[in-house]
Amino acid sequence: MACCHHYEFIEGNEQIFAVDPTAIRFGPGALKEIGHDAKELGLARVAVFSDKVVSRLEAMDTVKQALANSGVDFEVYDEVRIEPTDQSFNSGSRFASEGRFDGYISVGGGSVIDTAKAANLYASYPADFLDYVNAPIGEGRPVPGPLKPHIACPTTSGTGSECTGIAVFDLVSKQVKTGIASRRLRPSLALVDPSVTATLPAKVVAASGFDVLSHALESYTAAPFTRRKAAEQPVSRPMSQGANPWSDVGCVEALKRTGEFLVRAVRDSTDQEARHGMMYAATLAGIAFGNSGVHLPHGMAYSVAGMIRDYHPEGYPGDRPICPHGISVIVDAPSVFRHTAPADPTRHLESAGFLGADLSDAGENDAGEVLAGRIIEMMRETGMPNGLEDLGYGEADVPGLADGAWAQQRLLANSPVEVSPAVLAGLYLDARSYW
Ligand SMILES: [Fe+2]
Repeated sequence: MACCHHYEFIEGNEQIFAVDPTAIRFGPGALKEIGHDAKELGLARVAVFSDKVVSRLEAMDTVKQALANSGVDFEVYDEVRIEPTDQSFNSGSRFASEGRFDGYISVGGGSVIDTAKAANLYASYPADFLDYVNAPIGEGRPVPGPLKPHIACPTTSGTGSECTGIAVFDLVSKQVKTGIASRRLRPSLALVDPSVTATLPAKVVAASGFDVLSHALESYTAAPFTRRKAAEQPVSRPMSQGANPWSDVGCVEALKRTGEFLVRAVRDSTDQEARHGMMYAATLAGIAFGNSGVHLPHGMAYSVAGMIRDYHPEGYPGDRPICPHGISVIVDAPSVFRHTAPADPTRHLESAGFLGADLSDAGENDAGEVLAGRIIEMMRETGMPNGLEDLGYGEADVPGLADGAWAQQRLLANSPVEVSPAVLAGLYLDARSYW
């Protein structure tokens, strides 16, 4: 194993890592096979989750046609809210409970896939909403048993949600983003058809592409799984188990593709190689971070998105302020990686190289700066906001942002460096502007 030094054995610590991958079909035309896949999973009556925009796209027609051709009965729920909330999760769950479905299909971005996961959970094992939500915000109760089959069909090249056991939402009463995390939420099958990316707006490709970049980078630099105390029972081993030799494979490939294709995919919607390349990068990064977990940029992103007051990016619903997930993540990333580089300069420097940075004059002491510099360069080339100030945040917002991030203990546990509320506040201060 090339990375054996990274995963040094420490007496009393974990030596075992787990791999529970989602089945995947990847390639142009994959959606046309969904009727066959649904029947293979024994589905006769399914709920098809989507949102108002995606439900009008060709991808949705393809899915409906393929299900009809295979004689699979279905009902469409297109009320999914982009950046879902506890209320919108509850609405989806009610639809699922009342419809007596034997399986689920989600066609859309991360919001749609996550809503279908939650609907499947609450319809299968009804409970008070906060019971399954991550502690300390919710009770963090384990999911009692297997869920019904779920075929996830991503229509953006970003979240990787089709490969993960995580469902993210805004808890409106507390103005905080949090989630439900369990291996059992992982879709049974991911149908990834890159031809759906041809019609994506450039801003959506950019925001979701930076989510991919950060998934891969955070997984690759997460605290190694060997840093945790050995699990007393297999069941107590966390899903976000830390960097490990399996997740590393996906991270490296996803970073290389993101470095090569992200800027091209944003600039030219006809660059099929780049747009399909980003879709594959999203899938690879999803496999990786669904296995290892992410850390500080995602932990910090939740409050950045949750507290947004007046930001209306192109390509997203204009009826309310919204900070797309990928944007809320990447505005934090350069500040974070400058801070975390000393914990593992080799991996930070390697990552910069995978993303296309020139390392000819770079030494390990420069790792954080070189990596942050390459991310900032890509942000500028794709019209990303210049840090938190461009999203409308000032110094006075930092304590609130840091409190929100401190609540994300599941993600902070994966950080390669120790953090405290004061450290988080410092990271937000350093993320105010980059150029
Ligand atoms: Fe993400």
